[in-house]
Amino acid sequence: MDGNGRWAQRKNLPRSEGHNQGTKSARAIVEESRRLNIPYLTLYAFSRENWTRPKEEISFLFGLLTRFLTGELQTLIKQDIRLNILGDITDLPLPARKAVEHTCSKTRSCKSMTLNLALNYSGRFEIVRACRLMLEQGLSPVEVTEENFNNYLYTAGQPDPDLIIRTSGELRISNYLLYQSAYSELYFTPTLWPDFTPEELHLALEEYASRQRRLGGINSL
Ligand code: FPP
Repeated sequence: MDGNGRWAQRKNLPRSEGHNQGTKSARAIVEESRRLNIPYLTLYAFSRENWTRPKEEISFLFGLLTRFLTGELQTLIKQDIRLNILGDITDLPLPARKAVEHTCSKTRSCKSMTLNLALNYSGRFEIVRACRLMLEQGLSPVEVTEENFNNYLYTAGQPDPDLIIRTSGELRISNYLLYQSAYSELYFTPTLWPDFTPEELHLALEEYASRQRRLGGINSL
């Protein structure tokens, strides 16, 4: 969800206004994804690197997240959407952590869609963490397999992402789902996240549908 700051800057508004607007985009994209029966949607909301931002911005972001989750809980339940976190939430400000835990617990049995929020997330850290967990559990080298490795990631039990969308014109993965994205299709758009609409999601999905996924095999003619 990149480009909130630039969106605000271009309009001579404070960065916080970009994040406010970004939250509206997030809501619209979750709603449209649910309507389209997309079973898993992941939003990258806060990376481990984002802690280097000014304290006021961090505190604003987590306040926004807390209000967002509190305000949307009933809709999530009604729409049968389960909230799941990718990342370590113990470092979050307490109100945000509590809102996250409460929302996850209240939506635990929802089945129609899983909404992953990547919070305090880093792909490299996730891989290192998986190795540590395996060592802690005393796995022998032969038990460390590609299939098994998945079970130690934050996304345990979930399929790999089919499509990864990055907004705001940056052409990088930025430490996002590094293990899981081995064969994901990538879609880059110059649109800033606050301007990313359900219509643009449809464009991305159409582009995805037109691509031939070889998954390491050969092209069928
Ligand atoms: C990227 O824009 C956006 C973020 C780092 C924060 C996104 C998180 C929220 C809006 C909090 C609420 C969360 C949800 C799920 C509603 P940027 O600030 O990096 O923009 P820039 O690159 O243009 O400066």
